[in-house]
Amino acid sequence: MRFDIVTIFPAFFAGPLDYGIVRRARESGLVEVSVHDLRDFTHDRHRTVDDRPFGGGEGMVLKPEPLFEAVESVLGAAAPAAIVPSLANSGAGPSAAFRASNDARATKSAASAPPTPADTTAVILLSASGKLFRQSVAQRLAGLERIVLLCGRYEGVDERVAEHLATDEISIGDFVLSGGELAAALVMDAVTRLLPGALGNEASAIEESFSARGDSATPDRTTRGESVTADRIALSGETARAAHGRETESAPAAEPLLLDYPHYTRPAEFRGWPIPETLLSGNHEEIRRWRRQMALEKTRRNRPDLLSSAT
Ligand code: 6GU
Repeated sequence: MRFDIVTIFPAFFAGPLDYGIVRRARESGLVEVSVHDLRDFTHDRHRTVDDRPFGGGEGMVLKPEPLFEAVESVLGAAAPAAIVPSLANSGAGPSAAFRASNDARATKSAASAPPTPADTTAVILLSASGKLFRQSVAQRLAGLERIVLLCGRYEGVDERVAEHLATDEISIGDFVLSGGELAAALVMDAVTRLLPGALGNEASAIEESFSARGDSATPDRTTRGESVTADRIALSGETARAAHGRETESAPAAEPLLLDYPHYTRPAEFRGWPIPETLLSGNHEEIRRWRRQMALEKTRRNRPDLLSSAT
């Protein structure tokens, strides 16, 4: 997997790249990350990346030219605009065709044509107006070979970037950030940790809050982790039944995804607070039921929307 990040604050990424799982994944060659300064793709003396909005109004808008040039430089012939030149003047635009190819990827049979760059590459515009980033999106992205992250800034980005350059426009939540850098780092983290081999313990990604519990979109994950996943899936009890009708980006799960159950470690009593007795019982069936119940209660308390959205 290769990430290319396009930003006006390249130094921002020193932190996110140099710690934890992302650092280890880079060191082991599992991921490669390049950070590109958007101003390197300008041609004027002042290296201008923004301009005033047509139609008036507050704030500045990121210009399209540097972003298009950055993506074309980074992807070369694999850039959306280059990949379907015959559509370059159509109303849909090349990135629409690129998107369509990306969507079709999931339904392609093994016997069909070999994957094209459009099948294995995403160009993501991080913006507060994007589609909501969630675990199912991270799982789809983890199946790709290349991800270009375009960090929005200022009051906005020229809409032609979303229309004709980006394959996806992603927001990380219902709040406003001053720029896409934090969001890009977040997407990179969420995707990297799903890559087979990124976590020390392959099972860790399976049973946590929001995970698809073994039904990851990462092509070889389920088979690779089978011996480990089997009992972890069984551990999640009733949710195992739902593993087939699992939540995707297009369809909500038939059964709700739950938040993770509470975890405890030593000491068994801390400042007068003992751990729940069940965890000391050695009765695995009882522990499984207790965890399921706690997960449900915590979900009801912290994220009731997850329960009510499943009809
Ligand atoms: Cl990706 N960018 C900005 N500027 N604000 C956001 C966001 C992204 N996601 C949520 N709010």
